[in-house]
Amino acid sequence: MMTPPRIAVFASGSGSNAQRIAEYFAGTGILELKAIYSNNADAYVLERARILDIPSVVFNRDTFYKTTSVLEDLKSREVDWIILAGFLWLIPDYILHAFKQRIINIHPALLPAYGGKGMYGMKVHQAVIASAEPESGITVHYVNEHYDEGDIIFQARCSIHNRDTAETLAAKIHLLEYEYFPKVIQDLVTGLAKQ
Ligand code: GAR
Repeated sequence: MMTPPRIAVFASGSGSNAQRIAEYFAGTGILELKAIYSNNADAYVLERARILDIPSVVFNRDTFYKTTSVLEDLKSREVDWIILAGFLWLIPDYILHAFKQRIINIHPALLPAYGGKGMYGMKVHQAVIASAEPESGITVHYVNEHYDEGDIIFQARCSIHNRDTAETLAAKIHLLEYEYFPKVIQDLVTGLAKQ
């Protein structure tokens, strides 16, 4: 029997997408979530990992950018794909190189609009609302050396009404993420989607 693809999730904050991914695939045999990696020792995602009984790995800026220990850890777990789910740091070249076209990110807007450095989480939704956009959405894309610029794999949209605030928009976007992100991951790592 073929072993299922192995993924790692990187997250910096709450980690509700990380939890959704873990629960969606638990016991399915479709893929294995080997570990959750975080740059933030206080991130709630680490508590979620503990409750879900998934190994977690915490690293700091020096470890990430000046050593290869995160890569070595990924290799020791035989990880095939890296999934960024609310991860806020650029991926260093040595990891990009080792995981060519095997790192994807979810962004809470319709890229190329409302992306780039500093555009994450609520800041994105505040900017979208401030510009009175009629719609927003989610973008799943490959990760390269620039923030939010890799090839787009998938987008889904939602409309924005007059009464929407950054908070209500964030809630709509999270629902889209929970619905689509696991399916996009599944299609990619099982080879159903074009790579
Ligand atoms: C998600 O909405 C994700 O799209 C966004 O952060 C949120 C994390 O939520 N990512 C970015 O803004 C990346 N630029 P979560 O921690 O509850 O999954």
